[in-house]
Amino acid sequence: MGLYRYLIKPLFFLLPPEKAHHLAMTLLDIPGMASLLRYPSTSPSSVAVAGLTFPNRLGLAAGFDKNGRHINALAALGFGFIEVGTVTPRPQPGNPQPRLFRLPKDEALINRLGFNNDGVDALIKQLQKKRPPGLLIGGNIGKNKDTPNNQATEDYLYCFDALFPYVDYFTVNVGSPNTPNLRELQDKEPLTQLLAAIQRLNAAKDKPKPVFLKIAPDLSTSQLDDIIDIALTTPLSGIIATNTTVGRQGLHTNARQLTEIGPGGLSGPPLRSQSTEIIRYLRSQLPPPFAIIGVGGVHSVETALEKLEAGADLVQLYTGFIYQGPGVVARIIRGIADFSAAFR
Ligand code: FNR
Repeated sequence: MGLYRYLIKPLFFLLPPEKAHHLAMTLLDIPGMASLLRYPSTSPSSVAVAGLTFPNRLGLAAGFDKNGRHINALAALGFGFIEVGTVTPRPQPGNPQPRLFRLPKDEALINRLGFNNDGVDALIKQLQKKRPPGLLIGGNIGKNKDTPNNQATEDYLYCFDALFPYVDYFTVNVGSPNTPNLRELQDKEPLTQLLAAIQRLNAAKDKPKPVFLKIAPDLSTSQLDDIIDIALTTPLSGIIATNTTVGRQGLHTNARQLTEIGPGGLSGPPLRSQSTEIIRYLRSQLPPPFAIIGVGGVHSVETALEKLEAGADLVQLYTGFIYQGPGVVARIIRGIADFSAAFR
C-alpha cells in the first residue's frame, strides 16, 4: 500500500490519465508482475449468484478492460470476475481527448470516453485465448454512437449473439452518460422492447445466460419503479447499480476546475452513497434470488461491505483501483471473507 501510495501513484499521476492507464496495463502484463502484486493471503470464498459460481464477491467494473486485453493479469490480482466492454458492434474512437480527468481532492474521476473500443470481433479474439480457471467474464454491450436509438436493439442483439459463446453473463448498458441520448433507452417502452428482444434471443439458445441491466444513478424513484417492473416481467437475472453520475454535488474540487473539465460521468467516493441508496431501494423491491451487483465508490473493505449490507450480492470497482492500487483487490476480498466467517 505504502509503495503504491507514496511512489507508484505519484509517478503515474504525473502522466495524463489515459497514458497512465495504458502504461499501468503494459507493466501489469509483464509475466509474473500481477502475481507479485497480489496480496499474499487471499482466501477465496465462492458464492452462487444468478446461477453462476463466482470465486469471490469482487469484480472489475466495465470500462477498465474494454477490449479484454489484460484479463490474465487482472485475474492474477484476485478479481473473481471481470466485465469487459462496453463493446459496440463496430470499432469506434470515442470522444476527442482529453476525455478522462482526475479529481485528486475527491479521489474521483470524470470521464466522457464515449465507448471507445475495438469492436466486438476484436474482443472475441481476446476472449478466445486461454483464461484462468474459475474466473467469470461479463460481456457489457452497447450501441455505436451513429446508430439511432430506434435501431439500437439491432446493435445490442448483434453484440449479444456474437459474444454469446465467450462470456458467462451479459450486461446491457443503457446507463452511460457519454453516448448522446443513450439513457433515453432507460425509459419504460424502449427498455421493455430492448430487453424483451434480448431475452427472446437468449431463450432460443441451448443454455441461456444471465442478463443484467446496468443503470445510471441519476434516476428518479418513478423511473426506478419502472425499471423494477421491467426487471420482474422480462425477467432479468439482476441489475448492476450504478454507472457514473452526471451530478457534481458535494465535491471538494473547486467549481472553476469542474467548469474547465466540462461534461462527463463522475465516479469514485462522491458517487458512493447515491449508488448504495439505489441498491437498498432495489433490494427492498426485488428480493433474492434476484441478483444485484453494487458499484460506485467502492475503495476499501468498509465501502464494499456497505454495498453488501444494502443488498448487493457482488461488488465491482473501477476508480478505487486507480487511487488505491492493485493491493486493494485482495484486501477487499479478504475483508469480505473475514467478515462472512465471523457471522457464520
Ligand atoms: C466507466 N464505466 C463504464 N461503465 C460501463 O458500463 N461501460 C463502460 O464502458 C464504462 N467506461 C468507464 C470508463 C471510465 C474511465 C470510468 C471511470 C468508468 C463506469 C464504471 O463501470 C462504474 O460503473 C463507475 O465508474 C462507478 O464505479 P467506481 O468507479 O466508483 O468504482
